Amino acid sequence: MNDTVAHPAPQASANCTSDEYRTLYRRSIEEPDSFWLEQAQRLDWFTAPGKAGEWSYDPVDIAWYADGTLNLCHNAVDRHAASQPDATAFIFEPDDPDAPGRTLSYRELQAETVRMANALKALGVTKGDRVTIYMPMIVEGAVAMLACARIGAVHSVIFGGFSPESIAGRLKDCDSRFVVTADGGTRGAKPIPFKANVDAALAMDGVEVDGVLLVRHTGDDVPVVDGRDRWLHNLASDDDCPCEDMAAEDPLFILYTSGSTGKPKGVLHTTGGYGVWAAMTFQYTFDYQPGEVFWCSADIGWVTGHSYVTYGPLLNGGTSVIFEGVPNYPDHGRFWDVIDRHEVSLFYTAPTAIRALMREGDHHVTSRDLSSLRVLGTVGEPINPEAWRWYHEVVGSGRCPIVDTWWQTETGGHMITTLPYAHDMKPGSAGRPFFGVRPLLVDNEGESLEGAVSGNLCIEASWPGQARTVYGDHDRFIEAYFSTFPGRYFTGDGCRRDEDGYYWITGRVDDVINVSGHRMGTAEVESALVLHPKVAEAAVVGYPHDIKGQGIYCYVTLMEGVEPSNELYTDLRQQVRKEIGPVATPDHLHFTAGLPKTRSGKIMRRILRKIAENDYGSLGDTSTLADPSLVDALIEGRQNR
Ligand code: WT7
Repeated sequence: MNDTVAHPAPQASANCTSDEYRTLYRRSIEEPDSFWLEQAQRLDWFTAPGKAGEWSYDPVDIAWYADGTLNLCHNAVDRHAASQPDATAFIFEPDDPDAPGRTLSYRELQAETVRMANALKALGVTKGDRVTIYMPMIVEGAVAMLACARIGAVHSVIFGGFSPESIAGRLKDCDSRFVVTADGGTRGAKPIPFKANVDAALAMDGVEVDGVLLVRHTGDDVPVVDGRDRWLHNLASDDDCPCEDMAAEDPLFILYTSGSTGKPKGVLHTTGGYGVWAAMTFQYTFDYQPGEVFWCSADIGWVTGHSYVTYGPLLNGGTSVIFEGVPNYPDHGRFWDVIDRHEVSLFYTAPTAIRALMREGDHHVTSRDLSSLRVLGTVGEPINPEAWRWYHEVVGSGRCPIVDTWWQTETGGHMITTLPYAHDMKPGSAGRPFFGVRPLLVDNEGESLEGAVSGNLCIEASWPGQARTVYGDHDRFIEAYFSTFPGRYFTGDGCRRDEDGYYWITGRVDDVINVSGHRMGTAEVESALVLHPKVAEAAVVGYPHDIKGQGIYCYVTLMEGVEPSNELYTDLRQQVRKEIGPVATPDHLHFTAGLPKTRSGKIMRRILRKIAENDYGSLGDTSTLADPSLVDALIEGRQNR
């Protein structure tokens, strides 16, 4: 096919050739037990596992390496601190390019992790406790994760773009009694009040914690609550803190993610299987070679940051860049400056960032020395071929393979991706399944579809990095992922498989939208809007957005007698920011006298989506609407903005 792009291996040391991929993939499917026990040897175990996967999707019960014990902090930090103490673990690049950065060797990382772990213990944290981490993108955020893993606490990281309300909800949901935060942070020179947001969350009804560990970062003067808040730098620490002996199936972390209904779900990942998956996918997908500098631009508040800022690179003894800032500050060349300055070999970012930077012109890229780059990656949403080509040709000078990695919070790590040098690439396609991954396309009735075809993307067999449950609500886990197509894991994505066995993700098929690579439940935004006393009803849909992939489009009906106004428009956007956080800020509010409903009262979202997309030709059958004239009014309202 003429739209494929090939990259022959430039060196004998590539981690995988196409023949090796074929052989290994077949083994991973045909002999999963021996394959996965072999892969487990990537990690140091206190007790080596004798079993690989023991799982069932009906009933849903998933375990990997269940008789093994290990500690993931030992694997990410201590074993490298012993074997290569002076190798660089983290490179910190601050928001302000002129502020001092930081480089941490594995020895230093070990010392900082021990210190943080002892501080958590001093706060009262014990094995199994949930610790909430709400931090800027600084080294201490990753250190807090590792410190939890060290002492067997379960981390729940919350992205800095979430509001106090969201923090409170997550604290309550997993009954987390400890928070790690910083005084403040900055992104693009804009201050973010981390401590103040935590204080606001802790002041809410039903929220109660035993301790807050505070990291000094900006030096902002923040209130410290006696008996509750402790500065990390004021806590004495022993030189040591043993790594807890954890069962492979002990929880490692909870990460909240949006679904099509209700509040965000606390997706739970466990220790052994996740560790193997993060370590293995990192090595293969990026063709990581020892000594290379890896940079994933995601925040640790997302799963991408968990697996590819913290765990994946460190489990491989690699060097990971932690970037506090944003792509457009102080100018649109910031990403390329960071790559130039730290000689980044492997770079991983989101299509939304690529599109935004592409618009600003090639000179931001070509004025920097990017010759260190070897492999480029993308994640979070489908990448449009135009952005793919710009990334490949301008950023990578046509030299660097691109890996378009499809995966989810629930999958722990990469599931579908080409491997550098092993596979030809097709711009816009994620590529082929990773080892052990069995994708399955099914029609709406659940019939499996063969060959080149489109359908609902399911996964047929468990893999080590799979989420085990929704924290505290296993029924919700079953309902969300295993009930639509019983006996299979349903991803929520639509997908096409082509004649070469490449997968093309077409986007969510549920009421979830993808905004800048972040999953947003439309139901959550609707709930936030209807909390406003002047709002009667709200329906939220995604619409194509040049930079974000999808934008948030909200149809709103007002209470009897309330008139739309600019002030109300601003208020409602503010309302969503307050309830969920700046990440969920609506792009468009569309005041309407009514929402299109069937005679039985069901909102016809299909029509709302089409109108938001400015696609009026294919509205489909509107004759079942209770009030068909509404559609014309909605179209008119759409065209007026
Ligand atoms: C959803 C998962 C996985 C980390 C980032 C998002 C979409 C993710 C791709 C890709 C097309 C993608 C899917 C998926 N998605 N990567 N390479 N191509 N779509 O994690 O918030 O759990 O969202 O992101 O729709 O279901 P998440």
